[in-house]
Amino acid sequence: MSRLFQPLALRGLTLPNRIAVSPMCQYQAVNGVAQDWHLVHLGGLAQGGAGLVLTEATAVVPEGRISPDDLGLWNDAQAEALGRSVRFIASQGAVPGIQLAHAGRKASNPAPWKGSGSLPAGMGGWVPVAPSALPFDAGWTAPTALDEAGIAGVIQAFVDAAHRALAAGFQVVEVHAAHGYLLHQFLSPLSNHREDGYGGGFEGRTRLLREVVAAVRDVWPGRLPLFVRLSATDWVEGGWNLDQSVALAKALSDLGVDLVDCSSGGLVPRADIPLGPGYQVPFAARIRAEAGLATGAVGLITDPEQAEAILAQGSADLVLLGRELLRDPRWPLRAAQALKAEVPWPASYARAARGSV
Ligand code: FNR
Repeated sequence: MSRLFQPLALRGLTLPNRIAVSPMCQYQAVNGVAQDWHLVHLGGLAQGGAGLVLTEATAVVPEGRISPDDLGLWNDAQAEALGRSVRFIASQGAVPGIQLAHAGRKASNPAPWKGSGSLPAGMGGWVPVAPSALPFDAGWTAPTALDEAGIAGVIQAFVDAAHRALAAGFQVVEVHAAHGYLLHQFLSPLSNHREDGYGGGFEGRTRLLREVVAAVRDVWPGRLPLFVRLSATDWVEGGWNLDQSVALAKALSDLGVDLVDCSSGGLVPRADIPLGPGYQVPFAARIRAEAGLATGAVGLITDPEQAEAILAQGSADLVLLGRELLRDPRWPLRAAQALKAEVPWPASYARAARGSV
């Protein structure tokens, strides 16, 4: 029996299988509002058989968007527009989830195909916020360091967005604390030079994420799971590392986080990353073994047997796929055939299911 197609129970929710759509920015929103693109894109992935469909990084405040074209969830119109995708995803038997995010100093960029680096003010850019006034790279807009009121505002924005996510019908919230965005910027000593209670040692640097998670957990129903995405390492000497990620994951588990989605990198523009198939899986394995909570493995997972082995070896509870699902949104249905799992195709596609793949 394929493990990839066994359900995963987390609190009162059961994912129908262990395949999740990794969050992927589409740069197709208008004023943070989901468009037809999102319905077709996310809906197609649900038709393709993924058990959990996570939205792209969805900003909790306007200044927390990576680009002006990102999804947002700071008003009710945005929640209402996302509701259409949510209902369609659920109609296909998949679970709708949302990644809530704040880009911090990496905000105010153009969509990748429109340019790179910070957007100038005259072209729709803004001055981002961060733990410290340190730009991401040369030529990037220097951020403003958040004061305590600003930090309280960030926490409240995550809480408000979680409320709206629930109203929209999402069943999983993932807090984005990876890839060099705001919450990761607080974690890493390379980007957090604060001297107040939100900086300094491990306790101070992890405080904002712990406070965000505790506040979101307070309003997110006990029957529904909460995920956190971490960059398990900055891949830089003196930066955030795997030992700290294990310690943090234990603290997050105590705060009611159900799964840590284990990615890496993104804090600094240049890092030596040993890219290769499943290169981040060891992070999921160690955090799962030592922190005592479920983990998600992500990064260059493209093959059904590879995904199956990750679960069989106990390295993770869930596999998240990104680019492979852009190449082939019906990868899960094909994987089921390859692994000889009985998975029903959408009724309208059933005649294709009987053919060869
Ligand atoms: C991403 N990634 C990403 N990660 C995240 O946490 N939030 C996001 O919004 C995005 N956006 C995004 C857009 C696009 C177009 C790509 C390709 C990637 C990273 C993604 O979720 C995943 O972690 C990586 O792509 C590695 O997994 P794959 O693609 O090797 O399966």
